[in-house]
Amino acid sequence: EIPRVTGVQTCALPICPCHRVFGLTVVASAMSLATATAPVALGGARATLRGRRLAHTGGSDKVIQKAPAVKPRRRGTVTTASAVGTNLTTWLLRQEMEHKIDGELAVVLSSVSIACKRISSLVQKAGISGMTGLAGGAGNASGEDQKKLDVVSNEIFCEVLRISGRTGVIASAEEEDVPVAVEETYNGNYVVVFDPLDGSSNIDAAVSTGSIFGIYQSDQSCVPDWGADDEGVVQEKCITNVCQPGDNLLAAGYCMYSSSTILTLTVGHGVYSFTLDPSIGEFVMSHEDVKIPATGKIYSFNEGNFVNWEPGLKEYMDAIKKGGKANDGKPYSARYIGSLVGDFHRTMLYGGIYGYPGDDVNKNGKLRLLYECAPMSFIAEQAGGMGSTGRGRVLDIQPDEVHQRVPFYTGSREEVQYLESFLREN
Ligand code: AHG
Repeated sequence: EIPRVTGVQTCALPICPCHRVFGLTVVASAMSLATATAPVALGGARATLRGRRLAHTGGSDKVIQKAPAVKPRRRGTVTTASAVGTNLTTWLLRQEMEHKIDGELAVVLSSVSIACKRISSLVQKAGISGMTGLAGGAGNASGEDQKKLDVVSNEIFCEVLRISGRTGVIASAEEEDVPVAVEETYNGNYVVVFDPLDGSSNIDAAVSTGSIFGIYQSDQSCVPDWGADDEGVVQEKCITNVCQPGDNLLAAGYCMYSSSTILTLTVGHGVYSFTLDPSIGEFVMSHEDVKIPATGKIYSFNEGNFVNWEPGLKEYMDAIKKGGKANDGKPYSARYIGSLVGDFHRTMLYGGIYGYPGDDVNKNGKLRLLYECAPMSFIAEQAGGMGSTGRGRVLDIQPDEVHQRVPFYTGSREEVQYLESFLREN
């Protein structure tokens, strides 16, 4: 049998070799043997051979008659060529041409990618350049110890965003209580929130870390007027600008610093991953239109906190160890890096669930709404998955404060819904 080729990616150019080969293969497989004498391409040639063989072994007269030449038919549906291998700059320009983003947002995203490249380079050298260990000082905005690389990564993000000239307000997990208004000379329309180096407690052991970011449009009523506003008013306007629900996000992404450096982002039209090719210093598309499997048998929680969890969550844990939703009576597998970006990335590709619940000690868990949960939820939803607090959609939450924390569950749609069913009942 000549294999039937389905979902063929034909090239619009008539000279494209893939068009000739694949196009004719499809035609040949759909033809009767009697007419399968089309020359040139693989499918036709195979079919012709097959016809002759039949004739020698006593096939019907019809088979050996010279059949009229058959022109390859044009397929009715032509799928778009894959963009895998496209570099980030070209992809951003294409998004702009297709009116999915404007030029300003393309500049902001490009700036973020530069920050990620610089941080990637520092992370790789951390062990030999004296960049491991604590920075000293009072810690970050959430009172957590800051690593040296936390501080440097924050400076890098702030610097590239300021220089981009497209960002009005930036808010970082590592900054003090209030977001930073970019001075007038460099001011722009976008609000960028970010965690420059998430999972940095892993740095000293050279385990995966990542940067997470989200981009909002400025709420024009809150844009600081540099001539007129005093400092207090500027701060208040910055906070209002940053405290937008995740549903307002225009773009979000993360960059994972691991065995590869992978930048994953969405501008609200699917999820795309770009792997840094160190030989050319470019992010190159490696995963196109990523979709999270609807179910998955991996769970990713810090189970050390089990005793402090609510009863519904404990019941859920027991259930997935007996096969849960997806695993036909067999226990799920546990995987936990302790670095949201790494755990999320694996969950997105393999399916399953990631969770950082609230508990008796920390009612809202550990993860921050603005820099972690909202951007990751936007990505998860764009990939067909979910981002939930266990009792509602993360993107619906109107933040009360900049460094707010929320319980967070994300990953495969059916797995997150399964978990929610336990929390709802309790
Ligand atoms: P940090 O940046 O201090 O290492 O925190 C990382 C975050 C997040 O990336 C990860 O999923 C979570 O904290 C891990 O927290 P636990 O160590 O409590 O499991």
